[in-house]
Parts: sequence; structure tokens; C-alpha cells
Amino acid sequence: MSDAKSAIEYAHRNHERFTKELSEFIKIESISTDEEYKPQIEKAAEWAADHLRRIGIENVKLMSTGGHPVVYGDWLKKPGAPTVLIYGHYDVQPVDPIELWETAPFEATVKGDYLFARGSSDMKGQVMATLNAVESIMQAGDFPVNLKFMLEGEEEIGSQNMGTFLPRHKELFKADFCLNPDAGAISADDPTITFGLRGLAYFELHVYGPPRDLHSGLFGGTVHNPAQALAELITGMHDENGTVTLPGFYAAVRPVTDQEREATAKLPTTAESYLEQTGVPALWGEKEYAPALRTGARPTLEINGLLSGWTGPGSKTVLPAKAMAKISCRLVPDQDPVEVHKQLVRYMEENAPKTITWEVKSLHDSPWAITDINTPGVRAMAAAMETVWGKPPLYRREGGSIGVVAMLQNICGVESGLVGGGLPDDNVHSPNERMHLPTWHKNMDAFIHFFFNMK
Ligand code: BES
Ligand code: MN
Repeated sequence: MSDAKSAIEYAHRNHERFTKELSEFIKIESISTDEEYKPQIEKAAEWAADHLRRIGIENVKLMSTGGHPVVYGDWLKKPGAPTVLIYGHYDVQPVDPIELWETAPFEATVKGDYLFARGSSDMKGQVMATLNAVESIMQAGDFPVNLKFMLEGEEEIGSQNMGTFLPRHKELFKADFCLNPDAGAISADDPTITFGLRGLAYFELHVYGPPRDLHSGLFGGTVHNPAQALAELITGMHDENGTVTLPGFYAAVRPVTDQEREATAKLPTTAESYLEQTGVPALWGEKEYAPALRTGARPTLEINGLLSGWTGPGSKTVLPAKAMAKISCRLVPDQDPVEVHKQLVRYMEENAPKTITWEVKSLHDSPWAITDINTPGVRAMAAAMETVWGKPPLYRREGGSIGVVAMLQNICGVESGLVGGGLPDDNVHSPNERMHLPTWHKNMDAFIHFFFNMK
């Protein structure tokens, strides 16, 4: 306890500098989905590597994955003590629609309790909270456990190369526990441990009509408009209850148990909290499941983007040659992304009209994960949270995905503790992303306690 105290005092004295360093990290536009940002991706990886070196981490290196590099580092000076692997990602989502940002997306701007910027909450802020906790312990005395770091640059695009990278470096990433601060919390007042993540299967559905755009007056009514055909196909992918209609979609889905229904009913995530966080006039989805179960325990099919025809200013009377939808399915135990791909193709085979041709392209997929909340690492984190917040954490399943969690379990045998200071109203993946600074500070304290609880 007294060890933790001096580290926490160090952290508190350095909050301002920590914010400056986070702002430097944020400035680097490390958007992983767009090849044009490759130099900024490299720069962010270098920045993170330099920072690890600055705080005393050894053997720091950028490891090539075939895609964006993984930043590795370690500190292994406590033989006999447990080894904690710290996971984070330095890549961020694109910023568009840029016109809706009230501040420049890559200029960290503090307003009241919030720091606004792309990547503030998801997850450069969370990475830095962890590194700041490590620095504070290093500076205040001796580190109680061994450390390894894995900072990846492709989390926001499905960790595409980790599936081949990890098996090649299986030994290097072996650890007793992985601290993963990418999973957020229910609210600033509710310390949270996430024990379930959904998987993801991401597709493009292309619909082709005539070989070129046509005059809509000359041909409309005779030629099936691909935008309309795509809309009709998409409409058919859910029934009136919000249930997905792809053939066999629910065959592998584990039913929600009564115990889980009861536990979920006790969480502060209610229909009202969803309405408040999203600003929609009414909720939607499978009536027989509470909203927190619909996002945590049930699979979904979501249209992420639509493209067809004339979308510029003013009008153009065109019958477009083609239409495209970006579609992703969030997956739960025991769904398999490869099977879901086949189910989408089958749906198209059974439902596509003769008037068009079509193609399903698979972009990437990511496995679901259920973590063990009875491992010593999770217990150490729960105790740390109770010390800082004065109450034990809540346990929940989350709707988001972090591909590496299942890969670490299956390939390296490492369980993750899913935590973090991201809050539901942080606007992650949206304009005006922000991070709640008081929660950021509390998490640093909790991480410091966690490392001492681990020894
Ligand atoms: N941090 C999120 C995932 C998350 C959010 C987990 C909240 C738990 C609670 C992560 O950075 C993310 O957004 N991942 C992507 C991954 C996808 C592209 C495979 C996601 O979920 O959309
Ligand atoms: Mn994200």
C-alpha cells in the first residue's frame, strides 16, 4: 500500500505533463484504414517506442507484421514475479464527417473536464494512462512485477495481421495476464470489468445493373435500379422484430441464460440510459432482450455505409450502374465469421433478383471473446478499483470488438483484463471524440494499485 502511495503522489504531481505528452501522441494522425496515412502510422509507432524507452522499458522495437508494426518492449527484472502484458493500439478511426468537429480533430483541446481529439478516448488516452502508471511506479521505487508491451496499429481495421503475427511470436508474448484498457466503463462512477466482447465479420455487398449509368427518364421503369435493388435486399436482412434473416445466422448462438438476464437487469445500463446517450427518439431491436443484452449477448447485422448514384450538390437524373453497401455483423459465442460469410452469400443466392448481378467481398473478421473473471489478474484489478472508487466493479459484456483478446487466449494462453476509462458518451468513432479527464486520472491510480496487487 505505502509503495502505491508514493507512486500515486508522483502521478498526481505530473498530471499536467502527462496531458502534454498525450497531446503530442494525439497530434500524429495515425488513421489505420487509409494507406495515405502510412507515414503517420510509422510515426505514431516510433513515438510510442520512444516513450517506452523514456520511462525505462527495455528491448523496445518495432516488429513488422506485414501491415502496420507492433511496438514491443519489456522489463523483466523480477524473476519469480508474474509477468503482465500491457496491450494497447496506437491507430485511430478516420475523422469524417470533418465538418461536424467543433475543434481540430488532432489538436487535443481541453474544455472543462474533457479533452477533445480523435483517439483521446479510443485509445491513446488509455494507452498513456497505463504508461503513466508504469512511469510513476518506476520513478517512485522498484517495479513489483515483470512487464511486456504489445502496442498494435491495426486494431481499428480488425487486427488483420495479428492472426499470423502472433503464432510466429508465441513465446515472446507469453505472460501471466494481459492488461487491456481498450474496453471502457459504464460510467465515471461505475468502475467496470468487461468479460465479453463481440466478434466481427465485415463485408462489402456490390450490386451491378447496366454497364454504365443511364438516363433515368429513358430507362427508368424498364431497368431495375441497382440502388433500389440493394435497398430491397438490405431491407430483407431483418424481420419486423429486428431479428437477422440470414439463413442459419442464429444456429450457433448460445442462448442467454436466466442468470445472465438477471445479472444484466441489475446493471445501470437501461433503456433510458441508451436513449440519453444516443439522442434517438426511440430504441429499436429484438423486443424480448433488454438493450444491454441486444448489444452484449446477441449478434447483429449493421449497414455501415451506402454508396450509389448522384450524391453531390443539386440534382442529376441518373439510373446508376451500381450500388454498394458496407455491412458488418457483430458475432457472439459460438458464431464463426467464415460461416457468417457463407450465410450472407446464401441469402443473396436465395433473394437476389434476376435483374442484377452481385458480389460479396469479405474485408476482415475478428473473433468474439469471453474472458475468465476468476483469474488472479482480474481479481487484482477488481481490488484496485475498489480501493480507488470505494466500491467493487460491475461486470458486463460489451458490444465492441478487440480481435487480439481471443487470439491471445487461443495462441498464447493469456487471459485479458478488459478495463479502461472510455465512457459511453465519449463519441468514439464519431466527431468530437473526447475523454473524461477525472476518470483518466482515477484509472492511473487504479492501474498503480493493480501492479502492486499483482505481485
Ligand atoms: N475500444 C474499441 C472496442 C470496444 C469499445 C470494446 C467499447 C469494448 C467497449 C475498439 O477500439 C474498437 O472500436 N474496435 C473495433 C474493432 C473492429 C474493427 C474489429 C470495433 O469494435 O468496431
Ligand atoms: Mn475503436
